[in-house]
Amino acid sequence: MSIKTLEDLFIHDLSDVYSAEKQISRALPKMARAASDEKLIEAFKTHLEETQGQIERLDQLVEATPEVRIKRMKCHALEGLVEEAQEIIDSVEKGVVRDAGLIGAAQKVEHYEIATYGTLRAMAIKLGYKEAARLLEETLNEEKATDEKLTLIAEQTQ
Ligand SMILES: [Fe+2]
Ligand SMILES: [Fe+2]
Repeated sequence: MSIKTLEDLFIHDLSDVYSAEKQISRALPKMARAASDEKLIEAFKTHLEETQGQIERLDQLVEATPEVRIKRMKCHALEGLVEEAQEIIDSVEKGVVRDAGLIGAAQKVEHYEIATYGTLRAMAIKLGYKEAARLLEETLNEEKATDEKLTLIAEQTQ
């Protein structure tokens, strides 16, 4: 994909995060099954529902922004982060230590998403895509809230 303009870059990053969300929606059920703490299991399940909503929100964004369409691509960062979460599951037996590892893995994902959605929102504002900016901010706030929730769970369970 050749990227020349800010609009091209926006489409690239949007397509990247679309792939990221799809990968996250496949990983979260596995993470919920691998966790022990009830609050953590609940947090993973809640975020799975939110993630499905975020994918729908990306579809809404595309509908609301005629200049934009999503290209097929794979988010390599998420592929790596999901692989690391799987390594935790494979190498730590079920219990508090694995939970701590899973929280860390999940927070890396959230921070990646926060960085990505923050950048996308800033680009949308620059490009004058008002509805897109609003939708991106909604998701950005959900990712931030999830990150904070995970921090709280980590503090309560350690
Ligand atoms: Fe997300
Ligand atoms: Fe997230």
